[in-house]
Amino acid sequence: MRLLFFTDIHARVEWDAPKAMARAAKQMNEERADLALCGGDCITDGFQSSRAAVAHRWEVYRKHLRDDLSPRLLTAIGNHDLVGAVPEDGSEPEPDPRAAFRDELDIPRTFFSSEAGGYHIIVLDSVEVRGDALKYRGYIGEAQLAWLRDELARVGPDKPIILITHVPLLTSFFQATEGHEKVAPPNRVVVNNREVLDCFAKHRLHLVLQGHLHVNEMLRWRGTTFITGGAVCGKWWRGSWHGTDAGFGVLTLRPDRVNWEYKEIGWLPRRA
Ligand SMILES: [Fe+2]
Repeated sequence: MRLLFFTDIHARVEWDAPKAMARAAKQMNEERADLALCGGDCITDGFQSSRAAVAHRWEVYRKHLRDDLSPRLLTAIGNHDLVGAVPEDGSEPEPDPRAAFRDELDIPRTFFSSEAGGYHIIVLDSVEVRGDALKYRGYIGEAQLAWLRDELARVGPDKPIILITHVPLLTSFFQATEGHEKVAPPNRVVVNNREVLDCFAKHRLHLVLQGHLHVNEMLRWRGTTFITGGAVCGKWWRGSWHGTDAGFGVLTLRPDRVNWEYKEIGWLPRRA
């Protein structure tokens, strides 16, 4: 199976971002993939904004990227896609900050599963609103874990599984950039990652696709490939972040192998 994985678009109207998104969509279509997966942060700064203030960003995302994409698309929610969680413009917090995302994508729930090409695909909602100094953290709550265990009880042990999460379950980014003794901040990783991964102990977790960190990273741990998929917006529209330029990934999956290629879209940043 040939897959597209793109993440962290951070759609907005400034700095010619819509042109960059249209370029990414065109290049992704040229890959002739069977399925597209998105790792979230479709728009920018929904979390601290009112629904009305970011409506135009959803429109730009839809018009310049999502609607132009040929393959079927499944999307995980990112922290920026929660709208009105902790507004900073004096507006009232949204009673359900996930409502805008669900309405936009026309999905009933932010965690769900699907099937494609012989794979079972699980999309997680990895953002927990805290409202404290961190605003949010990466966490898979009890209700979602219960759903996940229930879901896996119905999936055979030999069926290969692909998991998508915005906030990473496993990464070496902080150790690579800040040294071995650095502990990843709770708003950068899923803090109960082992609890989540333990759910898959008797299953064939083939691939985990992650976003949030805007770098291109590939790890293999106990037979599972973990990929952090760079970012369509690169360093938040400022170019390259720790050596990862604006781009998207193309995967070729075989029963015992994952081939991952990160493709730069060749975007010259307009943001100072
Ligand atoms: Fe994010």
